[in-house]
Amino acid sequence: MDEAITTLRDEALVALDACGDIDGLEAFRIKYLGRNGAVSGLMRSLPGLAPEARPAFGRDANKLKQEIEAAFTARRENLAVNAAADRGGVDITIPGRCLPGGHSHPVSQVSLEICDTFAAMGFDIAEGPDVETDFYNFEALNIPSHHPARDMHDTFYVSDSTLLRTHTSPMQIRAMEARRPPLRMIAPGKVYRCDSDVTHTPMFHQVEGFLVDEDVSFADLKGVLSLFIARVFSVDTAIRFRPSYFPFTEPSAEVDIACVICGGKGCRVCKHTGWIEILGAGMIDPEVFRSVGYDPEEVSGFAFGIGAERIAMLKYGIDDIRLFYENDHRFLSQF
Ligand code: PHE
Repeated sequence: MDEAITTLRDEALVALDACGDIDGLEAFRIKYLGRNGAVSGLMRSLPGLAPEARPAFGRDANKLKQEIEAAFTARRENLAVNAAADRGGVDITIPGRCLPGGHSHPVSQVSLEICDTFAAMGFDIAEGPDVETDFYNFEALNIPSHHPARDMHDTFYVSDSTLLRTHTSPMQIRAMEARRPPLRMIAPGKVYRCDSDVTHTPMFHQVEGFLVDEDVSFADLKGVLSLFIARVFSVDTAIRFRPSYFPFTEPSAEVDIACVICGGKGCRVCKHTGWIEILGAGMIDPEVFRSVGYDPEEVSGFAFGIGAERIAMLKYGIDDIRLFYENDHRFLSQF
C-alpha cells in the first residue's frame, strides 16, 4: 500500500479517537471526508502517478475512504450513547413525537357560528356572569318569587339571593341598564338547570338575542329569525311559529323547524310530529321595560333564546346530548 495512504489512515484514526463531542466530529468530517478533505486529496493526486501505479492506488484510496466513513459513523453513535448516559439515559438524538393539534368544541363552534350570523346583521356581542342574582335572573324578567313560572326552571341556588343563571335572559336586563335604545345585542354563554337525561345536561349553552328600538314589530322578529335559520340550516328549511308563554315576552312563541332527520315526514327524533323546537322568542314585555326604566309607550323590542347544543345536535345528527360532555376523543375529533 502506498505510504501516503497508510500515513493518512493512521493519522485519521487517531484524530477520530480524539473527537470528544459532536462539534469535534463535524470538524473531523470536514477535514478528512469533506469535498476538499484529505481523502478527496488522495484521489486528486491520482493523475500525477505513474500509469501502472494508478489502479492499485485508486483501489486502496477507496478502501480507506470506506474504512474512515465506517469508523466515523461508529464514533458518532458511540458519542450519542455516551451523551445519553450523561443525561441520565435520555437520548436527545431520538426524533420528537408529534402531538396532535386540538380544535374548538363542537358546541363552541356552533355558538360562534350563531354569533357570527347575528353579528353580520349588526348585533353587538356581550357576555355576563354565570353566577347571577335573583333580581337579574327572575325579578326583573317579570318572574317574582311567587310566580308559577319559577317551576319552569330547576334552579341551582348559591345562596338565598344568588344562583347559577338558568338562562341567558338576564343579559337583556344588564344590557338595557347599561345602554340606551336602539339596542341590538347577542349574548352567548353557559346556563344551568338541575336536569339530566338524553336531551338535558345540568349545564348547557344558550345564545340570547334582543333588539330594542321604536316601532319594532313581530314581523321584524320573524324576519331576523328566518334569516338566521336560513343561514345556519338551509334556505329551504320550513319554519313554524307556535304560540307559547314566557313571563318576559308578550306575545311569546316557540320556533320549530321541519325535522332535519326525516324532512317533516315524522320520526323518533321529532316524536312523529315532523317539527323540532329550536328556540323561544317573543316581544319584550312592558313590565321588563319598566324594570329597567324604559317607557314601554316609547320603545318596543323582541328577544329570543337559542339552545346551542340543540342546534349542534340537529346540524350533526347527534341523538344524545351527553356525548358533548364525555370528552371522548373519538367523538370530538369528528368535528
Ligand atoms: N329564556 C328562555 C328560556 O331559557 C328563552 C327565551 C329567551 C324566550 C328570550 C323568549 C325570549 O327558555
